[in-house]
Amino acid sequence: MIAPMAHYATKVIVVTGASQGIGRALCRELAPQGPRLVLAARDVAALEAVASECRSLGAQTLVVETDVTDVDACRRLIERAVETFGGVDVLVNNAGIGMVARLDEVKDLAVYERLMQVNYLGSVYPTYFALPSLEKSRGQVVAVSSLAGLTGVPQRTGYAATKHAQIGFFDSLRVEMREKGVTVTVIAPYFVQSEIRYRALAGDGQPLPASPVHESKVMTAEECARQIVRAMEKRQRMLVMTLTGRLGRWLKLAAPGLVDRIAERSVRRGQ
Ligand SMILES: NC(=O)c1ccc[n+]([C@@H]2O[C@H](COP(=O)([O-])OP(=O)(O)OC[C@H]3O[C@@H](n4cnc5c(N)ncnc54)[C@H](OP(=O)(O)O)[C@@H]3O)[C@@H](O)[C@H]2O)c1
Repeated sequence: MIAPMAHYATKVIVVTGASQGIGRALCRELAPQGPRLVLAARDVAALEAVASECRSLGAQTLVVETDVTDVDACRRLIERAVETFGGVDVLVNNAGIGMVARLDEVKDLAVYERLMQVNYLGSVYPTYFALPSLEKSRGQVVAVSSLAGLTGVPQRTGYAATKHAQIGFFDSLRVEMREKGVTVTVIAPYFVQSEIRYRALAGDGQPLPASPVHESKVMTAEECARQIVRAMEKRQRMLVMTLTGRLGRWLKLAAPGLVDRIAERSVRRGQ
């Protein structure tokens, strides 16, 4: 049964990176509202499993195999959403990968290019193709960035650069879209339990041997998804997660060196 007064009942919501982690938790969190969910990622079997769960919770679903670094695949993703459900109301750019290495440990510079392709261009392409539909629906774009998009983080030069780029892009798009009624919500999570650090690239371009974070001590993907849905419903401009993250925004103006040390300590402690 669809939740009463559901904000997203019948709305067409495209979520990239829906096969696991935060994207999967977000789809599950939205499903009881009865939306039409378009689930995108590369792992179709995992997407089908998420879709099946979402249908049992009340959503209609469409699975579209998509590599967000492929322009044509992103065009097809949006075309399939429009053909199947008649338009797009919400696009959530969530697909992303991590990288953990100091610059002086990097062996393969291609890792920087890969990060930019997935995290930055992988959110530009779907947004570009969805824009005409979003303008018609006066819809919304959501970008899952990171606190690393707001400040420097050691061992994250590659990752933080992509997340800063994402925020620059979506902050600018917000201004462009103001008169068209399309809103932009930027999400800046702190550490969240997911697969990201098990799949993150090390300085040699290979997966990390182990997560450098105490995974059991950080926010769950479910809690992260609950906070994202609340921010989406309010069409909030930006959601900065955790008190440290929010205080850090102000501290950065007055004492940026202190924020650097907090970031250094968080990475050292892994939480
Ligand atoms: N977890 C954290 O601590 C944290 C903190 C701040 C921000 N974030 C951001 O949150 C977002 C979600 O990350 P997560 O933590 O949920 O990580 P995750 O568990 O590793 O999930 C990443 C998702 O992105 C998809 N993806 C990766 N490369 C892709 C590609 N080329 N094309 C299409 N989809 C691709 C993956 O699906 P396939 O492999 O099936 O394609 C997967 O569904 C990312 O943008 C990340 O930067 C995470």
